[in-house]
Formats: sequence, C-alpha cells, structure tokens
Amino acid sequence: MNSKRTTRLRSQAWFDNPDNPDMTALYLERYLNYGITREELQSGKPIIGIAQTGSDIAPCNRHHIELAKRVRDGIIAAGGVPLEFPVHPIQETGKRPTAALDRNLQYLSCVEVLYGYPIDGAVLTIGCDKTTPALLMAAATVNIPAIALSVGPMLNGWHRGERAGSGTIIWKYREKLAAGEIDYDQFMDAAAASAPSVGYCNTMGTATTMNSLAEALGMQLPGSAAIPAPYRERGQVAYETGRMAVEAVLERRTPAMIMTREAFENAIVVNSAIGGSSNAPIHLNGLARHLGLELTPDDWQRLGHAVPLLVNLQPAGEYLGEDYHRAGGVPAVVAELIRNDLLPHPGAITVNGRTMADNCADAENRNEDVIRTVATALKSEAGFINLKGNLFRSAIMKTSVISEDFRKRYLSNPDDPDAFEGKVAVFDGPEDYHGRIDDPAEGIDENTILVMRGAGPIGYPGGAEVVNMRPPDALIKRGITSLPCIGDGRQSGTSGSPSILNASPEAAAGGTLALLENGDRLRVDLKAGTVNVLLDDAELEARRAALDAKGGYAYPASQTPWQAIQRSMVCQFDEGMVLDPAVEFQRIDET
Ligand code: FES
Ligand code: MG
Repeated sequence: MNSKRTTRLRSQAWFDNPDNPDMTALYLERYLNYGITREELQSGKPIIGIAQTGSDIAPCNRHHIELAKRVRDGIIAAGGVPLEFPVHPIQETGKRPTAALDRNLQYLSCVEVLYGYPIDGAVLTIGCDKTTPALLMAAATVNIPAIALSVGPMLNGWHRGERAGSGTIIWKYREKLAAGEIDYDQFMDAAAASAPSVGYCNTMGTATTMNSLAEALGMQLPGSAAIPAPYRERGQVAYETGRMAVEAVLERRTPAMIMTREAFENAIVVNSAIGGSSNAPIHLNGLARHLGLELTPDDWQRLGHAVPLLVNLQPAGEYLGEDYHRAGGVPAVVAELIRNDLLPHPGAITVNGRTMADNCADAENRNEDVIRTVATALKSEAGFINLKGNLFRSAIMKTSVISEDFRKRYLSNPDDPDAFEGKVAVFDGPEDYHGRIDDPAEGIDENTILVMRGAGPIGYPGGAEVVNMRPPDALIKRGITSLPCIGDGRQSGTSGSPSILNASPEAAAGGTLALLENGDRLRVDLKAGTVNVLLDDAELEARRAALDAKGGYAYPASQTPWQAIQRSMVCQFDEGMVLDPAVEFQRIDET
C-alpha cells in the first residue's frame, strides 16, 4: 500500500528531515527511549495517533484502554506505528457543573496534539456523549485523516425481569420515589441494574445517538457504532479500525472529504429514524461550523421532521443497545431508508472509501420489531420541529416523545388541536427549581408551563440538562407525571419528555426569556412552530429597560478559569455552542 503514496508523510517533518538534522535528532531520540526503533520512525510508516478518552474518571469510555490494544495491532498489521495519547477526560455523569462545559476543552486539547505532534492520522476513541463531537470537531479542524471508534454501549440492564435502560430508569424510578412507592435504597438498586457492564448508556441517549451519527457521517466503519462494549466484535472492529486508519492516511482520505454537507444531511435523516437525542443538533451544527458548513435548526426541521421513527429503543421505545446491534445497527436503518428513498445522499463517501450505499444497501434487518420498516414505523414524523417567537429565535422539540396522556391533556381542543396556553412558573437555574418546585405557595397546577432559564451555554457554563422538569410531588401523586417544559438549557437524551429546549438566545445572552415573570401566559402552537408570551411589545420593552437598569440578567459567577474563558467566547445552542474564535481555524494542517 505504501506505493500509492508519493509525497512525504507529515510525521517525517519531525522524524526524518535531513535538511534539519539538529531538530530531527531532538524530535527522534526521546521517542526511542521506550523501545521504538529508528526503522519504525524513519522508514515512511504512517504514525497513527490514538486519541484516548478512557480513564478511571471516564468510565463510559474506560474500555477504550483495552480496545486500544487491538487498535494498535491493526495499525501495526497495516504497516503503521501507533502512538497513543490521552485527551482531557469527559464523563457525562461525573462532571460538575456539567460535562458539556468540557466538550470544547477536550476539542482544544485534541487539536493541539493532532496539530503539534508527529501524527499522520488518528483513531478517535469516541463514546460517552460529548467525547464524540469533541474528537470529530478536532479532526475536522486539523483535517488529517481520522477514523472514529465507538467504545460501544453497555449490555442491556435488567431489573425485576424488565429491561432497565440508562437514565430512563432513573427518570421513571424518581417518580416512584416521589410517590412513596420505593425507598432510597430501592432507587439506587434500580439505577445500578441499568449499568451491568463496561460501555456507555444502553438507551438511545446522546451517546448511542452520536455514535450512530458518527457512522452515518461516514467517520466509522459500517456496523461498528452499535456493537456492545463487551462483545468480541467490538475488539475485532477495533483491529479493523486500526488497519483502516493506516489506509486512510495512505489514500489521504481527510475528514473534510467525508464530513460534507451531504453527509450532514444524511445524518439528520438517520437521527430521526433512530429517535436521536435533542443534543444532536447542537453537536452536529457545531461540528459543521468547524468544517465551514452552515447547518441550522431549520435544516433539522426541513430534512428530518417528516422521517419515520424506525428504532424501537428506550426512551421512545422498548429495547436497548444489545437488541439494536443484533437487529443490524446503523446499516440496517440506512438500508431501510435507502429502500424507501429517504436517505438524501446514498453516494456520500465514507472513511473506508466506499459510499453509504456500498456499505449499507444490502444490510439485513434481523429483527423487525427492534428496527422497524417504514411500513411498521413507530411514529411517522420522528424529527424535531424548530420553534420561534417573541421569546427566542430557535428552540427545538422532539415531537415523537409526546405521550398520548400529554396529547389528551394539552393538545385535544378540537378547534385548536396543535396549540395550548398556560401560565408560567419560571425558574432561574436548577438550584432555584429544586428549591421551589414542591412549595405549595408557587401554585403550580396542571395548567402551568414550567420555564427554566439561566441554563444555557453562558448562564450555566456549558448548558445544563435540566429542562425536563418533573412536576411537584403533589401533582405526581395525583397522576400528573409531566407538565409542558420550556427552557434555554438542554435535556438528557435518555429522558422521554416532550420539552421545548435549547432555546437560543438564552436569558444570559440577552434572550427575552429573561423578561418572563411568574404568571405570564404563554401560547405554544406546534403547527405554526411558535412559542409566544402573551404580552405586547410595550410591556416587553419596559421590562427590558428595567432589567438593563439592574445590569442585565444575573447568573452565578464562574468557579474555574475555563468556565470564564468559555463564557467569554461561546456561541448559542442553535449555532453549536462552539468557541467562536476556534471556528476561524479550519483545515489547519493545510495552511
Ligand atoms: Fe456516558 Fe451516558 S453517561 S454515555
Ligand atoms: Mg447527557
């Protein structure tokens, strides 16, 4: 394969530069000190960086420490040299105040390594929610050949004879705890049951979503996203991924050649078909910006809303990660979309040099209850709608998770079947919510719309997953388990709530949500795609002036240097929550 390459590898500028022997000697000698030979570093073998996201502090991705051994074997077998390196860790469920704060930090740290060290190509060890967009963004910015390897979901959790899905069981059992049906220990046992092995969330949360979309974008080997972490195929695909990383370098297959506008349009459609997380638009819109492409929430509605829901995974459906893989994973979904002419660009090229259609068109669906056909789809319109109005320019809603109960309660007026109105209860961040939600003096009833603000990229640095707010315990005891929720924060992909979220601009960035007061009336019209507070412009202007006089919307001070740095340069959710100055650096290995 080496014969295909005519130009020098970028790593040779470090390790084999006869015009600059001093620097070559300095670069070279230290990499020999643990046993690498001059032959490996100086004979034109591609050097493949393995961006390691796993560690004890990042348990979702921890199994990558094992998988990297198979990646190395594949790299060596294909004639490359592996150099594994750590990137800043992210654990979705461990980081305070929120793991989303660190997506852009992991991105920055990975860019610096990919650009500044002798690396010809990279294996991106993706998995837990933010690690996937962070590493794809880094590969996009540097634009050296790269391939992603998912760590895979955990095995299916089981609790009392039923599938226990990550996150989903916590939302469900939290209601039982509130209703007094279970105690604290029983709640912890249920949560533990949902995490039976190494791997990431086994539900269709943000991790399964983003790993599926990395494959739909063409950045992972076909069929590799869904393989559960402990399965033998996971180690085997790690080996194949290592091999393919070397081939991608030799063929000079760069991220910008793969992650094209067409690839993103495919990914939007696949996201609907799998019932993907509401975090996906944030991450894909941000990733697109790093490639110089514009992807907007309107694109998501236009391309994705009318696509049917095919994958029957919790929280929208019944099954979990093992079932998804056994049924055929992403290729089986893509094949069904191609058969029905729903995949916009079957000819999009992928990291193995073949097109999406080459990779997936003949994939078998081995369980049509888990991966439905278009004819037996779980919902006919599974994507997001993009809502606008006098409170924000964009907020998305995953209409496929609106329950029958919710529909009956809020969307059953025969004269106005797609709209509802209610008075708002406004909360400034999650602490305020937890402090007041169960206070009877708040007067929260079944006609209340819960509004969360101060939870966006600036207000709660990184954006908090707090928009899916449970009703007061007193309402839950009466059987009212959800209220309409709106907010400038995010929501866990494992939550099944029909929230209106990712509202941009957030209150802390001057958004009109900052002007809402308890008791204001909101009107939500899903058909028109609008959310409006029923106040006239004069009233809003007066409130704006009063707020400005107080110095604007107040939010908690930064606790760490990075919080302050990110707050000073981050854009809003609809634009991907990326660092604005970072977007100016594109394809930096070519500049
Ligand atoms: Fe890591 Fe869900 S917490 S994938
Ligand atoms: Mg999450």
